[in-house]
Parts: sequence; structure tokens; C-alpha cells
Amino acid sequence: MADRRRLVIASGNAGKLREYRELLAGAGFELVAFDSEVEEVGATYVENARLKAETACNRSGLPSLGDDSGVEVEALGGFPGLHSARLAPTQEARTAELLRRLEGKPRPWNARFACVVALAAPGGPTQFFEGECRGEIVPEWRGKAGFGYDPIFLVPGTGKTFGEMPPEEKRLYSHRAGAVRALLESGALNRLPA
Ligand code: IMP
Repeated sequence: MADRRRLVIASGNAGKLREYRELLAGAGFELVAFDSEVEEVGATYVENARLKAETACNRSGLPSLGDDSGVEVEALGGFPGLHSARLAPTQEARTAELLRRLEGKPRPWNARFACVVALAAPGGPTQFFEGECRGEIVPEWRGKAGFGYDPIFLVPGTGKTFGEMPPEEKRLYSHRAGAVRALLESGALNRLPA
């Protein structure tokens, strides 16, 4: 069997890495995890995704995917958005802090998850793919699946939070699955040099 081409997933987030392994399972690449450990100094998801992907690509010499994502809550003016990973030191504390900021605000707490995937390849321009999932933040933690804010993010029409969905169900709706779908449909991975 011919060696499979390698593709770097530039993330140290175990939840994201698990999802990329599932979402790209049929894409024909050997996936390599590499944490770029860049400071997320960008002003947009696109800039941060670019930083992660290009740092990993420069260091490894391999095509690399960077992911920047976050949850934006309407009643908080889109907060935490880009700051979703840095609201508090642990994810449990971040989820609690988001709910604390929403206390007393009228429901529904409409929100969206956004994800930008950057594909950086040696010698080519970096390309970007986006996905989003609209939903609602709920005050009680529901389910243990997924990661991050999944237990408090209700997906309309399903009666479930992402925390209550197995991976194959989350991927029907998720912002990350949407961005990866756009990446696959673009054919960009097939055009990478062998
Ligand atoms: P970053 O992309 O490394 O800046 O981190 C994004 C942060 O947003 C994560 O650490 C999570 O807290 C949150 N997040 C992003 N995607 C998801 C998701 O699919 N489920 C739950 N939380 C997410």
C-alpha cells in the first residue's frame, strides 16, 4: 500500500483533534497533531487560524490545518467569541463564567458557534474555510459528550445540547463539520503537491 500523505492538525486541544480525526477519516491522509502554541494575537478567527496553520507548516514542512473557533452570545454583544478559550483557566470555569454573565438576561440566549479552518501548504497561498452553527445557550449543563461549551449549547429542532449528542450526530450540525465540509468540497486537499 502506498504511504499516505501527511497532514498536520495544528492544535493541542484534545476535543478538536478528536473531531478532526473523525471528520477527515475518509480523506486519505495520515493526520499528525502538532501544537503551534502560538499566542492568539489576531483580531479575527481568520488571522488566528492563519497563525496556527502557517506556524505549523513552516516548522514541519507539511501541509497544515489551523482552526480558530468560538461561541458568540447575542445578549453579550458577541462575547466571548475570539476569547472563548481564555475566559477563565479551565473549561469548567469558562462555562460557569459565561452562565454567570448571562444571569438575569431575558431568554432565549441566542448564540452561534463559528469556526475558521486555514489550510497552509509549502509554497502556496493559505486558504480559508468557514462554518457556523446557530443555537441557544441553556442555563443547565446537559450531557458529557464533546468538549468546551458543548453541554450548554442547545441545537434548535433537536431538543439536545451538543453535550448530549454522539459525535456522528454533532457533525450533522457543527460549525467545525461545516468548515471541514467546505474544505473537502473545495478540492484543495486533492490539489496538494504529492
Ligand atoms: P481556540 O480556537 O483555540 O481559540 O479555542 C476555541 C474555544 O472555543 C475552545 O477552547 C472552546 O472553549 C470553544 N469551542 C470551539 N469549538 C467548540 C465546540 O465545538 N464545542 C464547544 N466549545 C467549542
